[in-house]
Amino acid sequence: MHLLIPAAGSGRRMGSDRNKLLLPLLGKPLIAWTLLAAKHSRHIEWIGIIGQPQDWQDFKAVAADLEVTVHFIQGGSTRQESVYCGLKGLPAEADRVLIHDGARCLATPELFDRCAEALLETPGLIAAVPVKDTIKVVDAEGRIKSTPDRSQLWAAQTPQGFDVTQLLTCHETGIRQGWAVTDDAALFEQCHLPVKIVLGEETNLKVTTPVDLAIAEFILRQRLA
Ligand code: C5P
Repeated sequence: MHLLIPAAGSGRRMGSDRNKLLLPLLGKPLIAWTLLAAKHSRHIEWIGIIGQPQDWQDFKAVAADLEVTVHFIQGGSTRQESVYCGLKGLPAEADRVLIHDGARCLATPELFDRCAEALLETPGLIAAVPVKDTIKVVDAEGRIKSTPDRSQLWAAQTPQGFDVTQLLTCHETGIRQGWAVTDDAALFEQCHLPVKIVLGEETNLKVTTPVDLAIAEFILRQRLA
């Protein structure tokens, strides 16, 4: 199974002037934990990191340290653009692909395996968990418009997995139509293609702000203890 890791973002919401994936987390750069989980998955046999040129040397050093073979693909200015670059950088034999945000550094090898196995049976899937909070839809004035039924709400995570040809077509449709989305499932949905849920992990958080980094460190310490 082929895996693409979007890692071309900046550290803006982290308040950092460098890629947050290179910030230290329990003695290793954050991206190292993501790569370690992928390395220990039974199904991942090809890993592409989608990054910016200024980070390549650092990513290379991390991968060499972990003895993981990675391929580098230059990303774009949004996650959506970066994934599109990644899809075009896949080798010709890739027919299904898992996409996993570099920032979700606590995903386990078991989650990669669960998604990879499900992807053999279905051409569109995402890891997700039922939401715990009550979610409000709010207007521009800060007034609540509605309260969706929580029993139908799931929080989207990555890995997300797709048939490569279908996802490329969805990305190209999205470019033509000017769609701006925050995950790949949204492109599949807008093209009226089915996307299945695979049970994700509560600890599979996306490290975005300094608080997330502290929580991630706490979870890793517990795991390693
Ligand atoms: O910014 P956020 O954490 O939502 O980004 C999710 C993932 O997408 C991160 O792993 C980030 O590195 C990646 N990304 C990217 N290209 C961009 C912006 C974000 O690959 N232009």
